[in-house]
Amino acid sequence: MTTYVLRKGSAEKTGTDVLVVGVLKGRKGPTLAPGAEAVAEAYGRRLKPMLATLGVSGKAGQTTTIPSGGTVKAPVLVLVGLGPESSPEAVRRASGAAARAVTNAASVGLALPADDPALVRALVEGYLLGAYTFDAYRSRSPKDRPGEVVVLSEGARRQEYVEAFEHAQVVATAVTRTRDWVNTPAGDLTPEKFADAVIEANGGRRPSARGKRAAVQVKVMDEKELEEAGCGGILGVGRGSASPPRMVRLTYKPEGATAHLALVGKGITFDSGGLSIKPGTSMATMKLDMAGAAAVVNATLAIAELGLPINVTTFAPMAENMISGAATRPGDVLTMYGGKTVEVLNTDAEGRLVLADALGHALGVEPDLVVDVATLTGACVIALGDRVSGVFGNDDDAISQVLAAASAAGEPMWGMPIPDEMTEKVKGNSKIADLAQHNTERWGGASYAAAFLQEFVGSVPWVHVDIAGPSFNEKGAYGHVLPGGTGVAVATLVALAQDMTGPAEA
Ligand code: BES
Ligand code: MN
Ligand code: ZN
Repeated sequence: MTTYVLRKGSAEKTGTDVLVVGVLKGRKGPTLAPGAEAVAEAYGRRLKPMLATLGVSGKAGQTTTIPSGGTVKAPVLVLVGLGPESSPEAVRRASGAAARAVTNAASVGLALPADDPALVRALVEGYLLGAYTFDAYRSRSPKDRPGEVVVLSEGARRQEYVEAFEHAQVVATAVTRTRDWVNTPAGDLTPEKFADAVIEANGGRRPSARGKRAAVQVKVMDEKELEEAGCGGILGVGRGSASPPRMVRLTYKPEGATAHLALVGKGITFDSGGLSIKPGTSMATMKLDMAGAAAVVNATLAIAELGLPINVTTFAPMAENMISGAATRPGDVLTMYGGKTVEVLNTDAEGRLVLADALGHALGVEPDLVVDVATLTGACVIALGDRVSGVFGNDDDAISQVLAAASAAGEPMWGMPIPDEMTEKVKGNSKIADLAQHNTERWGGASYAAAFLQEFVGSVPWVHVDIAGPSFNEKGAYGHVLPGGTGVAVATLVALAQDMTGPAEA
């Protein structure tokens, strides 16, 4: 266990094993970033030539570890590049890169830019997330983590700074749990086990320092209840699996809340494609397909932990998309929650089917806004790459609000269209049912999926976030993002909830 402390103290007198300082890439060469002034002073005129000799440029993500030789109290310095500016974004990434560069230190001091609360948040989130490891399946013991991380900030004794420091830890815990669930092999996270993990995560809530918090209520619908409710989409997708489907519902109703946010997340614990089977290489990472459900659940728990005054109702449909003699076939017709019929044309387009039932349930709680998060389409990854999420919806203000929250949270997202022609195809392309689940024409697959979902949200403001690309990092680490599950969308949803609470009442 690593303890984080926020302290007002001087960087050069901090006696941790390692001291992390930022390097800005200036026009006239690299300079030490705010927070490291005293370190720069201690080195004096030796600093510039030393940085040049080391090849330190201030390029974002570059890390250089050097012995301090007694110039400052910490014996080892880690220099981390911020790029040209010390924005929260740059600090979050640099802090994450620094965390990955620190090995085998019992204590670490962070002398990164921290002269406003947003920077403190970014720096703590970045460090906690960059230090993430997933060791549950390693037989040898994992590498040692530092016992103490000291965050240095001039504002350490001020309320807004302390709140930012605590907020960052709550968000990072939620992102970390999301990563853990996504990284857990699908054989060990069936719908049933996933639902149990949600209950357990909610029970593990630590008592809050800031008074009494409203509790989150968790309700799990099993396959019988899904049948009674008429959830033909979830049941149809789950039919081929030996592990029956579930739907988890979380309710957070704090006193004095007025706005109501409904969240929906795709929880396919494994996506084989079903009878429209995926090729082996595409299937290999498909334990990731519950990342949307993991994100909305953990965002809800974080919102409650922070005590944000907003009602949140969250639906996480969970199913395993598998093959068996009982599996749904292409050409089968499913009757969804609410009564609409859908012709299944490709069993690999299963996400929209489980989401349709869950969106129907979300409408039932009469929210002001519904946001769904889903690893929905490969087409969205083709459009935006694997670091940017696609944002669709039926309400421009709501879309802007989600995009603004994403930008505040440091998660790249981009607005995408739902052209009318897609809606026409969804409604017109089945020869026997109300809706066609799949477009046989491949272009615009992410928009078609969004157009399909739109048929299930009525007139409530709704935003759909396709995280197929950013949910899982198949390549090397960068910034605070490690290989595997990333926990994307958690921070955005918390920022959105915070924004929806509006300015504090006088
Ligand atoms: N879970 C996948 C989408 C996905 C692809 C997530 C790559 C993460 C990385 C989804 O269920 C799927 O299979 N979508 C199909 C839709 C198609 C059949 C219309 C796809 O994208 O190929
Ligand atoms: Mn699929
Ligand atoms: Zn899927």
